[in-house]
Amino acid sequence: MPDHNKLSPWWFVVFEGEARAKFGEVLKRAYALEDKEAATAKLDLEAERFTRAPVVIAVISRIKEGKAPQWEQVLSAGAVAYNLCLAANALGFGTNWVTEWTAYNTEVQRELGLDDRDHIAGFIYIGTETEKQEERERPALADVVNYWSPDYTPQKGDKYGKAGLGIPKTGFKSVS
Ligand SMILES: Cc1cc2nc3c(=O)[nH]c(=O)nc-3n(C[C@H](O)[C@H](O)[C@H](O)COP(=O)(O)O)c2cc1C
Repeated sequence: MPDHNKLSPWWFVVFEGEARAKFGEVLKRAYALEDKEAATAKLDLEAERFTRAPVVIAVISRIKEGKAPQWEQVLSAGAVAYNLCLAANALGFGTNWVTEWTAYNTEVQRELGLDDRDHIAGFIYIGTETEKQEERERPALADVVNYWSPDYTPQKGDKYGKAGLGIPKTGFKSVS
């Protein structure tokens, strides 16, 4: 597992069996915070969210004390989530890594026991695929892959989406 300094800067919550529907009570309450006017039917639908797959795994990034900068610890959480997808795919299962509104909802975070050091990297839905996913547009390699030479002009993929302001440097410094 890519993990600088062996910090294990991540933890997991597995939802399987009845726990998926049971957690729906939390999702219902949480969604009401997102949309105060949500109809009962919509709240019931949101409650079923985790029942869309036999297993849903929340991957949570947790910043630890250690030599690895916080930025690298966040990257490690992304890597652990993707490795989870690849491992499940290798076993023949389909996976879907989503954050949706659930990853950012304070009620969901509170129920799962997150604190300031924790961020939900995503929910990995795992199951047997019933239909092939639609292919999506992919960037051309020439737009993102560069071969360095002393006078090169790097292609940074800016034609795909707007350039952002970057990750704030505050909070992403080394925590040694
Ligand atoms: C951190 C993260 C969050 C994501 N959240 C969502 C999401 O909320 N909804 C969604 O449709 N796709 C989301 N995706 C995209 C899908 O997981 C996936 O990358 C996309 O469907 C393309 O998959 P493929 O490259 O295997 O075809 C997210 C991806 C990442 C890395």
